[in-house]
Amino acid sequence: MNIQWYPGHMTKAKRAMKEDIKLIDLIIELVDARAPSSSRNPDIDELGQGKGRLILLNKADLADEAASALWMAYFEEKGFEVMKLDARSKAGLARLQPMIQRACKEKIERDRRRGILNRPVRAMVVGIPNVGKSTFINSLAGKAAAKTGNRPGVTKGNQWIRLNKQVELLDTPGILWPKFEDQTVGLRLAFLGSIHDEILNLDELATELSRYLLEEKPGVLAEYYKITEEGCMAHQVLEELARVRSCLKKGGEPDLSRTAKLLLDDFRAGKLGRVTLETPKEAGC
Ligand code: G4P
Repeated sequence: MNIQWYPGHMTKAKRAMKEDIKLIDLIIELVDARAPSSSRNPDIDELGQGKGRLILLNKADLADEAASALWMAYFEEKGFEVMKLDARSKAGLARLQPMIQRACKEKIERDRRRGILNRPVRAMVVGIPNVGKSTFINSLAGKAAAKTGNRPGVTKGNQWIRLNKQVELLDTPGILWPKFEDQTVGLRLAFLGSIHDEILNLDELATELSRYLLEEKPGVLAEYYKITEEGCMAHQVLEELARVRSCLKKGGEPDLSRTAKLLLDDFRAGKLGRVTLETPKEAGC
C-alpha cells in the first residue's frame, strides 16, 4: 500500500518549531517505544542544535522490553539522555529532574560563569502526532502547576508552566511531522496510529498488519484471537477474525471494514501483547 504525506503541513510545522526553539534550553523529545526510529523526525537534530536533549521512549508499557533495552543503549551511545516512560502514569517522573539537569549541564555551567544562579531551564516537549505529548505534559504539570503567563518575547499564546524552581515547560508541545521516504517507515507509523487514519485504506492497512504479524511475530494472532495461523494467508486473516469475533453484516457476510478497525484498535492498545516493530538494526540505525 502507498502512504502519502503532505509537504504543506511540514513547512508550517517547521516554521512554528523554529520560533519556539529560540525560546528554550532543552528539547524533550517523545518517540514511540514500539518504533523509536520511525517515530522520530531526524530534522529535530538540526533544528535543536546547541540545545539540551532528552529522549523519552514513550508507551514503553506497550513495547517489547528486550527491544527497549536495545534502543536505550542506542540513544545513550549517541549522547542523548534517555528514559523509558508510560506518560499516563506519574511513576518514573521523579527520575526526570536529574536527567534534565544532566542534559542542560552546559547551559547551567555557562549561567554560573556569568554569575546567573538558579535560572530555570526552559523546556519544550516535541514529537509526532499521537506519541503522547499532551498526556506527558498533563502528567508532569498536574493540576498544581502554575502558569506563569505570557511574557515579553514569548510567542503569542505560549505560556510557561513552572514545574519547580529549576524547570519551566512550554505549555504547548511542538508537533513534529512524520518523515519517511521509505514505505516501511510509513507503514510502521500507520500501524501505530501516528498517521491520520482518514488518509489510509484501513482494510489494506489491517491486511498489511496481518502480514507483518504472521511473518515477524508468529503466534501473536493465534494466541489472542484463537485462530489457526498455519496455512492462513494475510488476506484471509480478516475473514477469519470476522468469523471468530462474529463481525458480520446483516446478511451474515463478514464485515471486513469493522474487523479491520478491530484488529488495528486491538494492536494499538497492546491487546495482542507487547510488540516492537523495529530494533535499531531493523531500522537501519
Ligand atoms: P499527542 O499529544 O502526542 O498527540 O498524544 P496524546 O497525549 O493525545 O496521546 C495519544 C494517545 O496515546 C492517548 O490515547 C493517550 O492516552 C495514549 N498514551 C499516551 N502515552 C501513553 C503511554 O505511555 N502508554 C500508553 N499505553 N498509552 C499512552 P487515546 O486513546 O487517544 O486517548 P485516551 O482515550 O487515552 O484519552
